[in-house]
Amino acid sequence: MIIGVPKEIKNNESRVALTPGGANELRKKGHQVFVETYAGMASGFTDEDYTLAGASILSTAKEIWAIAEMIMKVKEPIEQEYPLVKKGQLIFTYFHFASSETLTKTMIENGSICLAYETVERQDGSLPLLIPMSEVAGRMAIQQGARYLEKPVKGRGVLLGGVPGVPPGRVLIIGAGIVGIQAAKMASGLGAHVTILDIDLQRLRHVNDVLPPHVVTMYSSEYNIRRLIKDHDLIIGAVLIPGAKAPNLITRDMLKEMQPGTVIVDVAVDQGGCVETCKPTTHENPTYIIDDVVHYCVANMPGAVPYTSTLALTNSTLPYALKLAGKGWHTACKEISELAKGLNIVEGKVVYKGVSDAFGLKYTPIDTIL
Ligand SMILES: NC(=O)c1ccc[n+]([C@@H]2O[C@H](COP(=O)([O-])OP(=O)(O)OC[C@H]3O[C@@H](n4cnc5c(N)ncnc54)[C@H](O)[C@@H]3O)[C@@H](O)[C@H]2O)c1
Repeated sequence: MIIGVPKEIKNNESRVALTPGGANELRKKGHQVFVETYAGMASGFTDEDYTLAGASILSTAKEIWAIAEMIMKVKEPIEQEYPLVKKGQLIFTYFHFASSETLTKTMIENGSICLAYETVERQDGSLPLLIPMSEVAGRMAIQQGARYLEKPVKGRGVLLGGVPGVPPGRVLIIGAGIVGIQAAKMASGLGAHVTILDIDLQRLRHVNDVLPPHVVTMYSSEYNIRRLIKDHDLIIGAVLIPGAKAPNLITRDMLKEMQPGTVIVDVAVDQGGCVETCKPTTHENPTYIIDDVVHYCVANMPGAVPYTSTLALTNSTLPYALKLAGKGWHTACKEISELAKGLNIVEGKVVYKGVSDAFGLKYTPIDTIL
């Protein structure tokens, strides 16, 4: 198969969909890989790295889109890329269709095959191509939170690890899923006192088993949250109710009960946030303050660490890309149910219920196509 990797052009996106190592694996299986010049630069990969791995470099996105049977990307195509998509072309990337009607209608009209990273789903319901980004965001939440707790950036002026004779900072994590557990791991590693909440007792049992004793688990309830926010320095929002807006677990009136300079990192901002006062921010301007509480609500946290994020993402996507390239999308999706779940739009038909529901479009069950 001919695989094309364009440079990402969405604002602030520095990741690339394929590493030189990935290109090498595809080449070994007899596929041809074309990479747009400088596509890997911001993630630390030069054109020469790709060439040495057996890929060919093309100088424009137009050439990449024109030659490729499968396009591998990180973000959904943006307006400038719309005219480049070909009928029957397989596009393997994050799409998040439900958040853009224009994108959905464009991809229906152009007759491409859209396989979305975010809906590839294993039989146990886990989302293997979302997990790595949650791992990055969870770990980063503590790094960013520790930074914004510093006084010059309006934080409380607390060092999370404390020092001998001074107690450590206190971190409250709401949600013990992928983000929450990774955040708890980082915070406890720094020596902070950590309290982690969830409504799923299985999750809390798991945390209790695998994390150190200074990570305390508690059931998530309004009563407990109200009590805990008063003496915690850093609060991480890490809840997810699949397919729904995150619940407002920290309401505006609760901010007054927090210590001035408390930092909230609402990682769940991409699902509306679990803090009522959460609104999306960017890496250029990541924080704002309400009632003396610092809010950090960056919706694409992994974008700030492209070296790590690119490797984490491509480690997960490559096995699927190899299957798609080796068998073709139709056979690969027929044989591998988790890949079939990734199909959202196929040659003009919406085959993912969430997308058709979002915009009142006709739904075609995927089994009628495979
Ligand atoms: N901002 C970013 O850059 C970024 C990056 C990655 C993920 N995210 C977001 O982070 C959020 C968490 O992702 P995840 O992968 O950890 O999800 P996950 O499904 O692994 O974990 C979510 C957890 O929230 C728990 N939960 C649900 N309701 C709760 C409540 N009322 N109180 C406490 N816990 C509750 C669930 O039981 C589950 O354990 C998602 O919204 C995801 O989209 C954001």
